[in-house]
Amino acid sequence: MKFLKKYPRLYNFLKDFKSILREALAPSKAAKFKGWYGMTLYTDPPWISTDLKQDSLEHQFKLVDIFTKNSVEDGSMKLIQFDHYNLDTIKILSELTWRHYIVFWSSYYAARNTKSNIKGMVEVGVADGLTLNYAFHALECYGFEFHGYLYDTWDEVVLENPSTKGTETQYDYLDINTTKSNLKKFEEKLTFKQGFIPDTFTGDQEPETISWLHIDLNSSPPTLDTLNYYWDRLESGGVVLFDDYAQPAYIDTKRAVDVWLLDKTDGVILQIPSSQAIIFKV
Ligand SMILES: C[S@@+](CC[C@H](N)C(=O)[O-])C[C@H]1O[C@@H](n2cnc3c(N)ncnc32)[C@H](O)[C@@H]1O
Repeated sequence: MKFLKKYPRLYNFLKDFKSILREALAPSKAAKFKGWYGMTLYTDPPWISTDLKQDSLEHQFKLVDIFTKNSVEDGSMKLIQFDHYNLDTIKILSELTWRHYIVFWSSYYAARNTKSNIKGMVEVGVADGLTLNYAFHALECYGFEFHGYLYDTWDEVVLENPSTKGTETQYDYLDINTTKSNLKKFEEKLTFKQGFIPDTFTGDQEPETISWLHIDLNSSPPTLDTLNYYWDRLESGGVVLFDDYAQPAYIDTKRAVDVWLLDKTDGVILQIPSSQAIIFKV
């Protein structure tokens, strides 16, 4: 079939057709997960194992994932970042399930492995609050006290990816009130820091120590600003989770993070096939 690669549309059509046919003829060999960036897995994802215990992380995640999809369907959660482009949000959420499992798992792991009584949970690049919905539910499920610090412009912002997309302006359609409404359940535990990073790293209403830091900015300079600002405040046992680490469009972020990490003796990075990466703080 290799010579057909000269005709990409025909090649992709035949490839899809072949996999549909294979799955129809041998359902036991069907893909168990199809997601983001064409990730196709034939292994069982943790949340669909048949003998999940009620209080297992996998089962709790599955409940939160169902709750999230129901909230989107009944309109109580609005995801403007997908609605703005008329995308099929439920389909996207399904494709993002592995990503959300990692968010859930890393939040729980960081909470369990840090000493603070109130876990500092920081996200830079919040948009509608989708990731934080999973992170906060993970802590709630296991009874951890926490406080969330949410950084975003919720307005147009300049993104810098010099090697790929160059300089772009995006996200003028976001609305902080939608994010507040999506996360209303946790409102007493939240501090919103609206504005451009690094300008919002002011020291005002910010934590001295944190357990979990999620960086999802789609832009390399503020990613570095965030690492420089928060690394020393990250407790031993805590984690930094990156959303954009291995996506080709954000290669500048990966390069910048890898160089930044070179002289850190207290961090070990793990890249994950979902395109995320986790730095575990020793
Ligand atoms: C991919 S979205 C975040 C998605 C979100 N974490 C989620 O999973 O739903 C990236 C966000 O980063 C924000 N952002 C990018 N650069 C920023 C900067 N320098 N300061 C503040 N926010 C920034 C954008 O406004 C946008 O909301």
